[in-house]
Amino acid sequence: MNLLAVLKEIHQEVTPLLGQGNVAKYIPALAKTDPMQFGMAITLNDGQFYGVGSYEKTFSIQSIAKVFSYTLALRAYQNDLYKRVWREPSGTAFNSLIQLEKEAGIPRNPFINAGAIAVCDSLVTHYSPDKTALNEVITFIHECCGERTITFDQAVSESEMEHGFRNIALANLMKSFGNFENDVHSVIETYFQVCSIAMSAKQLSRSMLYLANNGTDPISRKNFISSPQAKRINSLMLTCGHYDASGDFAFRVGLPGKSGVGGGIVAVVPGKMSIAVYSPALNKYGNSLVGTKALELFTTKTGLSIF
Ligand code: DON
Repeated sequence: MNLLAVLKEIHQEVTPLLGQGNVAKYIPALAKTDPMQFGMAITLNDGQFYGVGSYEKTFSIQSIAKVFSYTLALRAYQNDLYKRVWREPSGTAFNSLIQLEKEAGIPRNPFINAGAIAVCDSLVTHYSPDKTALNEVITFIHECCGERTITFDQAVSESEMEHGFRNIALANLMKSFGNFENDVHSVIETYFQVCSIAMSAKQLSRSMLYLANNGTDPISRKNFISSPQAKRINSLMLTCGHYDASGDFAFRVGLPGKSGVGGGIVAVVPGKMSIAVYSPALNKYGNSLVGTKALELFTTKTGLSIF
């Protein structure tokens, strides 16, 4: 199969859709992003790479970072992590407060904001006092990606910190239920810094290969997580990776995937490859509008879905 030709076709087909949707305005530093951008990248388990459009442009990975943090937390806490963060789809928006109150401070899954904040809290506990959770997540991304230049964007994390009222509320709610171990302010600061990590679609597709290969990076041969744990992360990406649009993403794309409000989406084709797409205008659920369409076209054209 000529994957570059497929990517070029997709690029052509989605170009008329650019401009639909809206960039994430609730994070002021992201509100000025040009909505017309599009990039798509594929890295195969054997290291072959294909890209079109702005695939080397770095952007704020936002909630995609939750995959890396969750991997580290699952490695550190194993099944004990499920006592703090459950594994069911929420059917609610990524920053919803209502369910958390009803369910006594236990977030439904690690990809909604409450769950990712609890994961971040668990990493702060795990790495202190000698290391910081932020550095460990970044170092982990360096290992997954095979590049040491990736870092976070301070302007974006500070902008989120100034407007992070909902996330601070979620953390305080968990604290009130006893599901929070550290200082709310410092965990939220770490959470925002992790969300503001900047990567390109090319780097993202490379860095998720461990999930396409049972927890071991197929290129460096480094083992990051066990095969059953990789299965679970992929399952959670399939069922929860797009919040209240997870069912729609599974229906249309048929792959484990994780979105971020920066406009990125990563998807995993187990045993074969990882795909990342960047297009910053979002649909009403906070997922890249054109990115979702591009991935839908990809699995339709290639038959490379898990179903
Ligand atoms: O906490 C937030 O709201 C953002 N830092 C991340 C949200 C996000 O990416 C949701 N994804 N689609």
